[in-house]
Amino acid sequence: MKFAVDPNKVPKRTLYTGDTMPAIGMGTFGSDKYDPDTVSKAVAGAIRAGYQMFDCAAVYGNEDRIGKVFKEAFDEGVVSREDLFITSKVWNDNHTPEKVLASCKKSLTDLQLSYIDLYFVHWPFRNYHSPGCAGDARNPDSRPFSVEKFMETWKAMEDLVDQGLVRFIGMSNMTIPKLEAVLPLCRIKPVAIELEMHPCFQQPELFQYISEKGIIPIGFCPIGSPSRPERDKTETDISDIDLPEIVSVAKAHQVHPAIVCLKWAVQNGQAPIPFSVTEEKYIANLKCVTEDPLTEEEMSLIRSADKNNRLIKGQVFLWEGAKGWEDLWDLDGMITK
Ligand SMILES: NC(=O)c1ccc[n+]([C@@H]2O[C@H](COP(=O)([O-])OP(=O)(O)OC[C@H]3O[C@@H](n4cnc5c(N)ncnc54)[C@H](OP(=O)(O)O)[C@@H]3O)[C@@H](O)[C@H]2O)c1
Repeated sequence: MKFAVDPNKVPKRTLYTGDTMPAIGMGTFGSDKYDPDTVSKAVAGAIRAGYQMFDCAAVYGNEDRIGKVFKEAFDEGVVSREDLFITSKVWNDNHTPEKVLASCKKSLTDLQLSYIDLYFVHWPFRNYHSPGCAGDARNPDSRPFSVEKFMETWKAMEDLVDQGLVRFIGMSNMTIPKLEAVLPLCRIKPVAIELEMHPCFQQPELFQYISEKGIIPIGFCPIGSPSRPERDKTETDISDIDLPEIVSVAKAHQVHPAIVCLKWAVQNGQAPIPFSVTEEKYIANLKCVTEDPLTEEEMSLIRSADKNNRLIKGQVFLWEGAKGWEDLWDLDGMITK
């Protein structure tokens, strides 16, 4: 098979186990904008373009369609199962031990796989909101983070590794105080942590904390998620692709600013998972990390452009008595109860 981008040229990340994963993958969240058929068609095209990592999740509502395109690609001999690194995530309403197992099995059935490479706890809360809800929607059953509850979920995740249903497990939307509390209690350490990372929101302390522990930071919304759902938009949000620093580097390389965000991400050390359903864009997103790197001066310029601008604030997960979305992120350095 002749791929648009040679997968052997795509940089890799090495997990603490010694195994490797691609340093860039494709996101599959349609952002309430792209339907499951459109997203799965893009995944089919991306496999044939040379992508080897796909970031899936039960809550994205499209794993059954994506499973069909994985099976077609294996049946047609485009790639083998071992060539791909496929992630999925357990959603917030499935955190009890029985439900974690059932959720994993459902994703395996939908994705038509015998194992998932990397299975995440999507959010460290059991707080649930209905898909497509408004930004100010609140669930009266929502509760603050609990180490005890999280570890109950994590133990169920560790059991999935023991059972061979998943190769590795990971966490997502964590903070340093939460990691400080739970990492010492883990029998199986996460190989990766998914976190929001883009030029306007670089999270340098969390990035360093994770990296020093040998855990791979996987960066979501790497282009600043310009198509994110309305509930995740606020007036003060800054657009990464309009940042003067990004635009000037893009001009110098004669590429779209989105491409600069991705080159920066891979050179900075995280594994970004950009999303696009447009063939021209998703091919460009993969190809850009195999050629024409940014200079050290350009990397420094982008590093200095950080605006600490979190886009996915998670306010729909807030509990009664919480002051605001900041409470989800332990900004005073302590776990917020
Ligand atoms: N763990 C979590 O809680 C979590 C949270 C959020 C996201 N994620 C994961 O991260 C993935 C990526 O995040 P995201 O989809 O929100 O944001 P993103 O990748 O930062 O942005 C995606 C948007 O950028 C535009 N784009 C992509 N490539 C482009 C290019 N080469 N040139 C110009 N525009 C381009 C596309 O816009 P158009 O649609 O207009 O083409 C696309 O919709 C998700 O799909 C999901 O898998 C995980």
